[in-house]
Amino acid sequence: MSEPRIPRLDLSETFQARYEAYRRRVEDGLERLLPAASRWPEPIHEAMRYAVFSGGKRLRPVLTLAACELAGGSVEAALPAACAVELVHTYSLVHDDLPAMDDDDMRRGRPTVHVAYDEATAILAGDALLTLAFTVLADPDGPLTPAVALRIAFELGTAAGTAGLIAGQVADLAAEGAAVDGRELERIHRHKTGALFRACARIGAIAAGAGPADVERLSRFADEFGLAFQITDDILDVVGDEAATGRPAGSDERRGKTTFASLYGVETARRLAVEAAQRAAAELEPFGARAGFLRDLAFFAVSRSG
Ligand code: IPE
Ligand code: IPE
Ligand code: MG
Ligand code: MG
Ligand code: MG
Repeated sequence: MSEPRIPRLDLSETFQARYEAYRRRVEDGLERLLPAASRWPEPIHEAMRYAVFSGGKRLRPVLTLAACELAGGSVEAALPAACAVELVHTYSLVHDDLPAMDDDDMRRGRPTVHVAYDEATAILAGDALLTLAFTVLADPDGPLTPAVALRIAFELGTAAGTAGLIAGQVADLAAEGAAVDGRELERIHRHKTGALFRACARIGAIAAGAGPADVERLSRFADEFGLAFQITDDILDVVGDEAATGRPAGSDERRGKTTFASLYGVETARRLAVEAAQRAAAELEPFGARAGFLRDLAFFAVSRSG
């Protein structure tokens, strides 16, 4: 079978410059939100910063900010919420890497938090990042009205909890070494990864004051985007280059996890990822050319090498 075709990408300067501009805002926002490493008790604050400032792509907060702008809002309105999403994502990675879960030693090109520090610190740093996310949303000095902030906290809590990310992680661990079919695997991916993507798009739209039709449309976009993203993550665990992914390949096979790559083979998995990105892009059509950045973001996610 020939390599599936990814539609022509505008990974042009325009896309890259806009991604970079969002990313920089997120880095600045996170820098302001994380407690100083010198604050007592120092080791936990050091570990939180070690986890957060390690070169992540910041894809979820970029999605949040871009969804907000597409829905007519400003970066300022969505920035604390975008940072909150990245804090939840980072916590989920710190815990995902623990010996009791995926037992991975490397993340973003350096030792995972429990290796660099210790297990208790990694558990507590993850807990602290998750807690900080909701403190950020509830900050009375934030840019949103209390009613909007509350709606956003509800979206993030729902996505992070047992209706979303935790459900996916539980099912992912339960499936290790077990026979899993494509339907169940897709359900796991839509929960462990898709739920947070969905929340990003919804939160961005809600911060912009969007109506229900736009919130739902962006939700459907992000559902398919999240699936495309996790299928690509599965593929990179097989064929990824450690220099680009920041972690050695083969973790999923070592843990006996069924992935899109192991179930369908890399070629078919690539096609399924592109198809999911195409379904995502189709949801954006009513927004017209203004949605170009989000469309490119979805195809960037399936064509990435890291
Ligand atoms: C990794 O996410 C975990 C998954 C849900 C697949 P990313 O690939 O976005 O990780 P960072 O934040 O860029 O390191
Ligand atoms: C991670 O999925 C999902 C969450 C952290 C919620 P993976 O276990 O596939 O992510 P990586 O491959 O370790 O980044
Ligand atoms: Mg995992
Ligand atoms: Mg993992
Ligand atoms: Mg993975």
